[in-house]
Amino acid sequence: MKALILVGGFGTRLRPLTLSVPKPLVDFANKPMILHQIEALKAVGVTEVVLAINYQPEVMLSFLKEYEAKLGIKITCSQETEPLGTAGPLALARDKLVDESGEPFFVLNSDVISEYPFKEIMEFHKAHGGEASIMVTKVDEPSKYGVVVTEESTGRVERFVEKPKIFVGNKINAGIYLLNPSVLDRIELRPTSIEKEIFPKIAAEKKLFAMVLPGFWMDVGQPRDYITGLRLYLDSLKKKSPQRLMTGPNIMGNVLVHESAKIGDGCLIGPDVAIGPGCVIESGVRLSRCTVMRGARVKNHSCISGSIVGWHSTVGQWARVENMTILGEDVHVGDEVYSNGGVILPHKEIKTNILKPEIVM
Ligand code: GDD
Ligand code: MG
Repeated sequence: MKALILVGGFGTRLRPLTLSVPKPLVDFANKPMILHQIEALKAVGVTEVVLAINYQPEVMLSFLKEYEAKLGIKITCSQETEPLGTAGPLALARDKLVDESGEPFFVLNSDVISEYPFKEIMEFHKAHGGEASIMVTKVDEPSKYGVVVTEESTGRVERFVEKPKIFVGNKINAGIYLLNPSVLDRIELRPTSIEKEIFPKIAAEKKLFAMVLPGFWMDVGQPRDYITGLRLYLDSLKKKSPQRLMTGPNIMGNVLVHESAKIGDGCLIGPDVAIGPGCVIESGVRLSRCTVMRGARVKNHSCISGSIVGWHSTVGQWARVENMTILGEDVHVGDEVYSNGGVILPHKEIKTNILKPEIVM
């Protein structure tokens, strides 16, 4: 089976992290977001993943080549010369997606985190016999998403409304699809939206079906949702593979620590923390609801909560970093500095307090 991941877009809502790497390569729970997806696809028998990309393909490919060999899966790029939206890229990659088998293929938005219930959607797809299957999930704020109205008993989609202005329902498109090759015949090679132009038509012909996604789901394309997503991910990990989480007297709740990270004495860590490869957490540090990415150093007695520390950054001694502070790559927060919601661009040094949320360039 094959899969296409939509990896276009500039990931502006996840800056400053996306100033260093394309959004799908931003680490989530200690590995690039897209690897979570590729590993889950591989686990259900996908043999080739096509990345639909519209900028920096070299960065993505050179990174993913390493994983092609490690995971034993083929990874190729389909590059647009202009952004083709969420459907156009499927038309562009047509030859890569279709083969003589006539099998359906997966399509994923690159910024969604879940337990990826691909087996379940395959069974669902087979059972309803329609042309396309999508996963849906319930959210509190449906207007940010594509809203899907279904016939309760069969899952047949009656309406698909992208970003509705008035309330239509609270089940939304989770950005995980399984499509028959015939769907490609409906898509022209031009900038076009699968949500606005393709799904509503398939639904009108009663051939679009939706299944409620089991487990958690989050679009982690913005900082607040990223931090919430980490909590949900760790909760799920706790249920499925608790041995992967750290335990001990200095650990509170769910904490994921890479085996190469070092943690000093007298720290209190958790809940909902991810500490990446090669990180050094010195003594007496307090971490909660945060991500510390590869190669970062958090010095003695500092305190970080509700924040993201980018790759190779440092947080000084007695510093306090909180309230959705995002440190880009290689940022250095001085000793005793306080950051309340600072968004700091890569390679900056912060020597004075940031008292209210602001962007530091
Ligand atoms: N190749 C390519 N080219 N990919 C693109 C382009 C493009 O021109 N534009 C967007 N994408 C990719 C994004 O990288 C992302 O993976 C996916 O398409 C969806 O785009 P977003 O910009 O993240 O859309 P959204 O979050 O506002 O809405 C979408 O996702 C929601 C779930 O998170 C829609 O699919 C909604 O219906 C859905 O509910
Ligand atoms: Mg999104």
